[in-house]
Amino acid sequence: MADKTITTHSEAETAAAARELGATLSAGDAVLLFGDLGAGKTAFVRGLAEGLRIDHRDVTSPTFTLVQEYRGGRLPLVHVDLFRLDDPREIDDLGLEEIGADGVLAIEWAEKLPHPPHAAIEVCIAHGDGDARRLTIRFPDPAV
Ligand SMILES: Nc1ncnc2c1ncn2[C@@H]1O[C@H](COP(=O)(O)OP(=O)(O)OP(=O)(O)O)[C@@H](O)[C@H]1O
Ligand SMILES: [Mg+2]
Repeated sequence: MADKTITTHSEAETAAAARELGATLSAGDAVLLFGDLGAGKTAFVRGLAEGLRIDHRDVTSPTFTLVQEYRGGRLPLVHVDLFRLDDPREIDDLGLEEIGADGVLAIEWAEKLPHPPHAAIEVCIAHGDGDARRLTIRFPDPAV
């Protein structure tokens, strides 16, 4: 699939872009999210959940939970936020690829992953003026 760059102007537009992606995902897919504080990573995961027909209201960004799993949709969604983790060994020990194997893995602050999954979809969200956000979605090389 070709890479995609989209500019959104609201949280709803970002979620809509994510919903479209979520509808195409299969078991074992991983979505790595990059972007500053408040860029819209969690908003994007909320859209992914909707695309998987999971109740998007389940998707929050709790202060102390690193890994949350949402069920009830087409596939389970495992939502990870690495913001508060800095020890690479601790991150490796989470065993995220195994946890996410049967569903879709979405990881915020993915730059902290010491060993990012191969063949992941990468989503970078950059702040523009005001509510503008520039989303870049990169799909893995099909040969990998
Ligand atoms: N175009 C947009 N896309 C997404 N969010 C937007 C947009 N414009 C404004 N917002 C606002 O920006 C905030 C994004 O918050 P969100 O929690 O999704 O960010 P985040 O990247 O997950 O942050 P954190 O690094 O704290 O986890 C929300 O308050 C949302 O309403
Ligand atoms: Mg977040």
